Amino acid sequence: MKLLLATRNRDKVRELKAMLAGLPLELISAADMPGLPEVEEDAETLEGNAIKKARTLFELTGIPAMADDTGLEIDALDGAPGVYSSRYSGPDATYRDNVEKVLRELQNVPEAQRTARFRTVVAFVSETETKTVEGICHGRIAAEPRGSGTFGYDPIFEVTGTGKTMAEMTLEEKNRISHRGRAMAQFVEFIKHKTETGT
Ligand code: IMP
Repeated sequence: MKLLLATRNRDKVRELKAMLAGLPLELISAADMPGLPEVEEDAETLEGNAIKKARTLFELTGIPAMADDTGLEIDALDGAPGVYSSRYSGPDATYRDNVEKVLRELQNVPEAQRTARFRTVVAFVSETETKTVEGICHGRIAAEPRGSGTFGYDPIFEVTGTGKTMAEMTLEEKNRISHRGRAMAQFVEFIKHKTETGT
């Protein structure tokens, strides 16, 4: 079975290939197929974007495809930035701009009400099937950035039960408990079942 990974992000491709290693799959990434368009993430939900990306690439290539989409959902902001996480403070927002905007908006919100979660949705689209799985990591927004990691909202996302922000964790530690790690673990089970049953 062939599987097209609908991402050009080399770090994500490496991570996904490692997780899917050992399964009877031929993995191809969008980065290896020049000419594929950048799919616009304009759906209103993470599910919608993940399915749109996977479906577009499946329709263009005929190869069963998987795609993911992630959002940070902050309760005191009614679930924002959510599906807009990458461009929360504008179309050219840097990670730092986005982090500063979140901290500004939560300035007067007490610790107990700063609860949040990261949610990743992974979608699979083939000729006969559209399937999504999700992974969630619970936490809360810290009062200020902590840790040396600089990816996205990592420095202000304190993971429940650890006392650490994601930026204070090693990559291994983070992958074990992260939204993406959990979603991928479910996806691996789903694909494994398909390869075992030939469905
Ligand atoms: P994407 O759907 O994986 O591109 O993620 C959308 C946005 O969510 C990114 O631009 C980051 O700002 C944020 N994000 C996604 N995953 C993480 C993470 O593991 N840590 C911190 N921020 C993340």
